[in-house]
Amino acid sequence: MCGIFAYLNYNVTRDGRFILEILFNGLRRLEYRGYDSGGISIDSSSQSFLSSNLNGQFSNSAPPPLVFRQEGNIESLVKSVYNDVASMELNLEEPFSVHAGIAHTRWATHGEPSPKNSHPQTSGAGNEFLVVHNGVITNYEVLKETLIRHGFNFESDTDTEVIPKLAKYVFDKANEEADQSVTFGQVVLEVMRHLEGAYALIFKSRHYPNELIACKRGSPLLLGVKELSEDMGTGASFLDLKFISENGHPKEFYLSSDASALVEHTKKVLVIEDGEVVHLKDGGVSILKFENDKGKRGTALSQPSSVQRALSFLEMEVEQINKGNYEHYMQKEIHEQPESLTTTMRGRLKHGGSCKGKTVLLGGLKEHIKTIRQSRRIVFIGCGTSYNAALAARPIIEELSGVPVTMEIASDLVDRQGPIYREDTAVFVSQSGETADTLLALEYALENGALCVGITNTVGSAIARKTHCGIHINAGCEIGVASTKAYTSQIVVMAMLALAIGDDAISSQARREAIIDGLFDLPYKVREVLKLDQEMKDLAKLLISEQSLLVFGRGYNFATALEGALKVKEVSLMHSEGILAGEMKHGPLALVDENLPIIVIATRDACFSKQQSVIQQLHARKGRLIVVCTKGDAASVCPGGSCRVIEVPQVEDCLQPVVNIIPLQLLAYHLTVLRGYNVDQPRNLAKSVTTQ
Ligand code: F6R
Repeated sequence: MCGIFAYLNYNVTRDGRFILEILFNGLRRLEYRGYDSGGISIDSSSQSFLSSNLNGQFSNSAPPPLVFRQEGNIESLVKSVYNDVASMELNLEEPFSVHAGIAHTRWATHGEPSPKNSHPQTSGAGNEFLVVHNGVITNYEVLKETLIRHGFNFESDTDTEVIPKLAKYVFDKANEEADQSVTFGQVVLEVMRHLEGAYALIFKSRHYPNELIACKRGSPLLLGVKELSEDMGTGASFLDLKFISENGHPKEFYLSSDASALVEHTKKVLVIEDGEVVHLKDGGVSILKFENDKGKRGTALSQPSSVQRALSFLEMEVEQINKGNYEHYMQKEIHEQPESLTTTMRGRLKHGGSCKGKTVLLGGLKEHIKTIRQSRRIVFIGCGTSYNAALAARPIIEELSGVPVTMEIASDLVDRQGPIYREDTAVFVSQSGETADTLLALEYALENGALCVGITNTVGSAIARKTHCGIHINAGCEIGVASTKAYTSQIVVMAMLALAIGDDAISSQARREAIIDGLFDLPYKVREVLKLDQEMKDLAKLLISEQSLLVFGRGYNFATALEGALKVKEVSLMHSEGILAGEMKHGPLALVDENLPIIVIATRDACFSKQQSVIQQLHARKGRLIVVCTKGDAASVCPGGSCRVIEVPQVEDCLQPVVNIIPLQLLAYHLTVLRGYNVDQPRNLAKSVTTQ
């Protein structure tokens, strides 16, 4: 949902081409967040900026920063920038000992994809203030009207354009009124005071060359710091930012919407907090805290207090964010599930000692597990695939905890302002940890006093930080827009949650131990089911021209039906629908004929015989059936041999959804590739939906 990136080099000489390539590579890493348009801003020449720090004194001799914007994906931006640079006869070999560049990849919310709606958005002619933005400004219409009354002309249809224009308004007004010049930080703080909504912003200004400001509220933003001298005290996982500010060593700074664009440069990062204004200037980092004093009268710009923060160490390897030998991220992420599941479980399953049997250890919940056990209700909240994962885990949580479990789609809970009580445990499931709908639901549950538990894949994400406690799914960075490995790891985490909650019940010990054994075995079973790759490709060839697909499941595998259908529709653009098999006779049966392909999940569990009868009824209506069944069951699910059968290994019933989804993930992948679509950039979608 838009990616923002910036690069600032200090006391280290980099030429224009190097700077451009760093910005482009940053955008390539963030492209999964949006890919309908992009843009960058760089300086045209080092001459005016080399030694001077104009500190707000506008110099007409300083050339305006250059802005390039283009509709389409990052490669179209790259191509058009190099074309423009060539036609402008810009010297890309020109060295800059310090330079601040910003970049953006867009997923359109306000205004269609087009150069004028791409970022950086500007304050107008002269590019005095430039902004890249991830999020949505909800009060932009009011701000726009006010700014128009003050003589500003708007060129785009975006909400973002009010931000640089407001910065110019604040800057001009402050300089008219104050006898000393206003700082860049003060301008941005004043702008923030007027903004409502969610945002992560990076500002560049002609008035403050070689400086950048980043700030955020709601949307994610990280600062990466790379020192280029020996005596920087590396090796420690924490490095005081104060140290960075006080030395003059050459260094490079990176700002990014997420860690995937930082890890190839540095592992030292600062996760910027809501309300912080991070100012990069003269090789230093200073952080001001925004206090919301909206409504205060008066024009004097505030002098906010500065904040001391420590950098943390990124636990991510570059290999994780590369495709390796795979053609697509989605393909890589499907195939790496044996490893991602192993990492999810690592250190959490105990074989059992002399006095206690096999158990589960979830460090992040230690202090809270008793409260969860005693809660009146457990409410699972999420969107899309994360919701489906919770749905798959619901039966085992109910069984082992004895606590009633309800399911909420995050946006629907907020729309209804549904009941959430102090005695509830609300569990927020989110791969990114940044989904706006889920975050809003979290705020709502916090206000209502529920114990809030986060299940996310992103350390330091908003959901991880704002919940009272939680479990990281540790699936590794997921880049494919269609979630695959995060889904299976989420199910496993929630199965472990069920085991931990039920840990005090002697009556279910044998069941728990069987599940733990099943978890130990799961990566091997997943490896086995991945061997269906070619079979699923063959099936995809058969289905390539179909318009529609139905997927029937029930019990543990109702979620498999929903998730399988979601995967197929979101990447292959084939209409598909997941249906609760128990509902078949109450409407969907009308769709059945000899043409419409129907996948039925009928693996062995308590619902197996009911699924057998569903198959018979579909068969009686000449349904075109593809049945996912347990190995060896082909004859019992398809007596006449008239349907296509996909056999999967059997695991514990509550873990079966992990195995069963994999053929459907493979089917979605192959269908998409065969249909000629870009599987990693599905139409109109983006990962991390940080707007409502
Ligand atoms: C589908 C998909 C989405 C996400 C949903 C929630 O493949 O990825 O449905 O699951 O947008 O995202 P997270 O889990 O990041 O909260």
